[in-house]
Amino acid sequence: MSTSGNERFFDKDDIIVSKTDLKGRLTYANDIFLSIADYKEAEVLGQPHSVIRHPEMPRAIFKLLWDSISSGREIFAYVVNQTKFGDYYWVLAHVTPSRDNKGEINGYHSNRRVPDRQIIQDTIIPMYRKMQKLEDSMPNRKDGMAASEKLLTDFLQGKNQSYDEFIARIQQAA
Ligand SMILES: Cc1cc2nc3c(=O)[nH]c(=O)nc-3n(C[C@H](O)[C@H](O)[C@H](O)COP(=O)(O)O)c2cc1C
Repeated sequence: MSTSGNERFFDKDDIIVSKTDLKGRLTYANDIFLSIADYKEAEVLGQPHSVIRHPEMPRAIFKLLWDSISSGREIFAYVVNQTKFGDYYWVLAHVTPSRDNKGEINGYHSNRRVPDRQIIQDTIIPMYRKMQKLEDSMPNRKDGMAASEKLLTDFLQGKNQSYDEFIARIQQAA
């Protein structure tokens, strides 16, 4: 996917964990997060989670992520992240809202595992490439996002699946 940097890998038993506040600023990153992304804890705490954003991730996937978690729903998403020195690594992320004892959302939490390689290669990379190309082809960010969201919606409608069903089915099929 990336034109620069090398792909990095983590162990199939490893879980990359991070937590954020309501604005997506990092409040916690486990050792596996720090070691794969090449950061020290002090460099990421308080930073926006986009510190590891890879430029080739479609914006519409992050919109879907934020729409889900801010309205109280969990989401699973395939994400490519960028390390401090420009390498990249793929994850299957599970992102959930955290709640205080009154049930109010007070932050977010993400666990990430090694994704299935075939799914990344056959399904996710081609889909994300199309989405990103569309996002880049539009004169402004808003139209690009709308077009990319529509591409995803049409793709899912063609399969007669919701996003959640789509993610669950490709995993079952792998
Ligand atoms: C708990 C949590 C985990 C996140 N994990 C990632 C991640 O691993 N990689 C990433 O690029 N964005 C992640 N995000 C989304 C970022 O907050 C942000 O929306 C994304 O990087 C796009 O940034 P941008 O809109 O500034 O381009 C996460 C957000 C939350 C709340």
